[in-house]
Amino acid sequence: MLVKIRRSPYLLPKPVAIVGALVDGKPNFLTIADISTTGYKIPRFVVSSGKPHYTNKGIIENKAFSVNIPSENMVAAVDYCGMKSGYNEDKSTVFEVFYGKELNSAPMITEAPITHACRLVKTLDFGDTHYLFIGEILETFVNDEILTNRIPDIKKVLPFSFHSDNHYWSVGNNFAQAYNIGKKYKKN
Ligand SMILES: Cc1cc2nc3c(=O)[nH]c(=O)nc-3n(C[C@H](O)[C@H](O)[C@H](O)COP(=O)(O)O)c2cc1C
Repeated sequence: MLVKIRRSPYLLPKPVAIVGALVDGKPNFLTIADISTTGYKIPRFVVSSGKPHYTNKGIIENKAFSVNIPSENMVAAVDYCGMKSGYNEDKSTVFEVFYGKELNSAPMITEAPITHACRLVKTLDFGDTHYLFIGEILETFVNDEILTNRIPDIKKVLPFSFHSDNHYWSVGNNFAQAYNIGKKYKKN
């Protein structure tokens, strides 16, 4: 039986990212589940950030932000950055930060297995609760220990997902080969 529930963007699993920016010269980080990607040749992130967030100020002023993919062992810090605002707490020392060559105002997290420096290319404002920040990825850094055949290995990255049951979920197993399994599809 199909049942209709409250409309909501159930994109499962939903990865958790930590978005960073320099606010008044200091790194600040917030946790973001509403994040998406677009494009490969010119890769971009799309970040949905609630208008009251402190981090927005730095993103808008510097036209720069970082997108950091945390590992499971960073979950407490991720949750903390999602509960405390830079307006009330100094989150600049929660992580060790570094900067790439392209942007000196996109603080990236050293302990994150994957991190990206993004230049803000567009801000969309629908006049309601959130900004949509679209950032072109100028640089990507990984911890070389998480690579297998030169690409990030999910089993080593250990990214995790946030669900609306208010829990963090780990990622499961690879179970089929993309651009391949579909060849076996037969219409009933
Ligand atoms: C698991 C989790 C996911 C979150 N996802 C989002 C999100 O997608 N968009 C958003 O605007 N806030 C999100 N938040 C809330 C912000 O991270 C939170 O309000 C944060 O304290 C804002 O920090 P700031 O004021 O220092 O920028 C999330 C929080 C948690 C714990």
